[in-house]
Amino acid sequence: MKSFLIIAIDGGAASGKSTASATLAENLHFLHVDTGFHYRAVTFYLLKKGVALDSEKAIEKGLERLELGTEVQGQTAYLILNGKAFSLKEVRSEDVNQAVSVVAAIPYVRQFLLEYQRSQVKVARDHHFSGIVMEGRDIGSVVLRNADLRVFLYADVETRMRRRAHQGEMDSIEHRDKIDSTRKAAPLVQVPGAVMIDTTDLSKEGVVELILEKVKSINDELTSEGKFVAK
Ligand code: CDP
Repeated sequence: MKSFLIIAIDGGAASGKSTASATLAENLHFLHVDTGFHYRAVTFYLLKKGVALDSEKAIEKGLERLELGTEVQGQTAYLILNGKAFSLKEVRSEDVNQAVSVVAAIPYVRQFLLEYQRSQVKVARDHHFSGIVMEGRDIGSVVLRNADLRVFLYADVETRMRRRAHQGEMDSIEHRDKIDSTRKAAPLVQVPGAVMIDTTDLSKEGVVELILEKVKSINDELTSEGKFVAK
């Protein structure tokens, strides 16, 4: 019997989540969902609307009647807001980098996105993917607690700053990490049972290889129980 595998990847800013998730999705024919993109798109939308981001009330009002949709392009699911798609350039601007962690710390905003994020599993099944790989800060701890594999990516801060600068982005990752790790609502944590990978001295391929090894051993276990057969 063919089933479906769920992988949760969490980690701090520029820890290598997106590259690893996208490559895994391609290798395994999984749907890739980047929840950082969701928080970024919502932040961009609020900034565009001129909503005062220091007021939770204003943010709640700003999100009223906002419709969430999904567009699947290749292996990736993109969030659509009121029918509008966002470019990477828009959601990775300096303004969004500065504001996103403040917006993402608001419980109302997280609740607003939670069911949508969980619904992506159905999107993946409906599109006949063999599984889903979802990345963020609270995927293993909150969004997909029942994931078959939970991965926590780590890299030291100098390495992460170098990576971000290499991408040509202005981004205070230490500041974002501090807000993300210390907030009350769904903070960035390494949950017990998650596989920790230190990517500091690893190549992109090296990270993916390690995760694929884990997928293989989980797949072997599930296959012996008759639950999953990889492509
Ligand atoms: O790509 P990078 O690691 O810089 O960040 P991202 O994954 O695009 O996430 C941007 C921001 O969204 C994070 O700094 C968090 O504040 C927030 N976020 C979150 O709170 N929960 C998630 N599951 C994903 C992102």
